[in-house]
Amino acid sequence: MLRVALLGCGNVGSQVARILLHDADALAARTGARLELSGIAVRNIDARRDVELPRELFTTDASALVTNADIVIELLGGIEPARTLILSAIEHGACVVTGNKALLAADGPTLYEKADAAGVQLSYEAAVAGAIPILRPIRDSLAGDKITRVLGIVNGTTNFILDQMDSTGAQFDDALTEAQRLGYAEADPTADVEGHDAAAKAAILASLSFHTRFALENVHCEGITSVTAADISAARDVGFVIKLLAIAEKLSVPAGMVPFDGGTEGANVPSDGGTEGVSVRVHPTLLPREHPLAAVRGAFNAVFIEAESAGELMFYGQGAGGTATASAVLGDVVSAARRLVLGGPGRTETTTGQVRALGIDAVQTSY
Ligand code: HSE
Repeated sequence: MLRVALLGCGNVGSQVARILLHDADALAARTGARLELSGIAVRNIDARRDVELPRELFTTDASALVTNADIVIELLGGIEPARTLILSAIEHGACVVTGNKALLAADGPTLYEKADAAGVQLSYEAAVAGAIPILRPIRDSLAGDKITRVLGIVNGTTNFILDQMDSTGAQFDDALTEAQRLGYAEADPTADVEGHDAAAKAAILASLSFHTRFALENVHCEGITSVTAADISAARDVGFVIKLLAIAEKLSVPAGMVPFDGGTEGANVPSDGGTEGVSVRVHPTLLPREHPLAAVRGAFNAVFIEAESAGELMFYGQGAGGTATASAVLGDVVSAARRLVLGGPGRTETTTGQVRALGIDAVQTSY
């Protein structure tokens, strides 16, 4: 039996709890151990929730819960107390599953290093693109390849808004209100419309794709608040659609050119004296209508990957929503449980590359 502590019971957390309780037999069969939901830490036990869950599971003492768990699922969001609780879980030898993209983008390296040092698994598939399995394919399936570019529609709210403006002529504010009503937007939609949510996801995607660690401050970020109906209509007239893209791509700076921050420390410097780097950025992008990402409508997400051997790949699906995102969380929980059952350490990826982030805001596609 493995004790699973859940921190947070919002849209995603409540669905995770429901599945852990209702599908307990199936999960036990898949992992080789019963996953016992040992408690759910929340701020307010009496808050209204979409899913009815046994009241005795709830506690306001998150610290006590994490010290007595084999797997800790962190779905609180934000930096604190999530960071402290995750560190405590790691110190106590628990595997951690989190969907906290803001925390990973802000302070991921500390958490990865602590988890590596403790030999426990820290996994976060739900942090990027909701239900879409994208991090594990990048980290594992493409580990023998060289990714050259990642283009992602990784924020459902902004894709929904831009799509509504494009297809129905809706005004920005009305489309945002509808996205909030449908539950796609963050509690504070500024994180969506200013691109910060997508930038946090871009940092995670870039880190895994290019085997180095990017933080939020490495990501050039521009949201969609200045995109007008006239921009969208002008783009349409010439065969383009405007999408908010998270872009991470390899680029070379020829010898003699200096990266934007003027420094070279840590850069990968080829023998010709040029600098190889990675540009990581989020901005509204003109995309040819025939590009596969142009077909991603509504609040759906998609990630388009170009790799040297695999060529082009696209991952598509629901990027937000409680039940969909719970699927990604549970996948990580099952993976952690299997490792614990096998008795092996649940290690995360540990690569420390020497690629540097450059803030360059243009995208060229062959479409
Ligand atoms: N607000 C986010 C979105 C939720 O719209 O994609 C998922 O991270």
